[in-house]
Amino acid sequence: MSHSIHQQYLAEDMRRLEALIERAARSDEGLRRAIAGDGDLQLLDLACGACDEAETLTKLFGGVQRGSGEGRAMKFVGFDLRAREIAEASDRFRGDSSTDFEFVSGDATKLDMYRELPGTFDVVFMRHQNLWNGKRAWEEIYHKALEKLSPNGRLIITSYFDREHEQALEVIKNQGGELLVTKANSRSRELPTPGKSVDRHLAVLRRSDPS
Ligand SMILES: C[S@@+](CC[C@H](N)C(=O)[O-])C[C@H]1O[C@@H](n2cnc3c(N)ncnc32)[C@H](O)[C@@H]1O
Repeated sequence: MSHSIHQQYLAEDMRRLEALIERAARSDEGLRRAIAGDGDLQLLDLACGACDEAETLTKLFGGVQRGSGEGRAMKFVGFDLRAREIAEASDRFRGDSSTDFEFVSGDATKLDMYRELPGTFDVVFMRHQNLWNGKRAWEEIYHKALEKLSPNGRLIITSYFDREHEQALEVIKNQGGELLVTKANSRSRELPTPGKSVDRHLAVLRRSDPS
């Protein structure tokens, strides 16, 4: 998809993503707490590319839309292998008094090696996880993502395809994840590849052994 078409649809895609997360939160108290709590929050946007969703996630999890003026203190880490996209994200998203953005280019299969990152995160978000691009690597990425979750933390994934989503959920369960909610996005925007659409499914998981 060209850059301009992507931009044209971005705002609507983000509204739909936000609505989908809110719908999932109705079925999971832990996610509701992550959204509505007022303590500090650490969020890792893993394999984020250019992190299109950064503003939507900071608005939703940062407490801004609750109308309390400034949001809660939030640390937002965007992490991806592709240095160019990460550089673009750090140009696009600047922190403010409540949100501290950090964008890191690196390999998520070795996430534990990045000592500069917080030890745990309340939310690990993975938009359009990419299992079909390499099962071994993504098994490792899911494993590392679960390891980074705080005891009550939530892993949120979205997927482009039905089958890839089901398979990703199986793989994450095998890596120690417990599925809490999965929702199909009835307003998902179709893409040219048959069966592929934007944020077609969203799932919320936690660690099955949160010790
Ligand atoms: C399908 S794209 C999704 C990008 C973005 N989240 C979105 O929804 O537009 C998958 C992303 O995974 C990233 N990725 C693949 N392997 C990775 C790895 N080992 N470590 C970090 N990121 C990786 C790619 O660079 C790519 O940005």
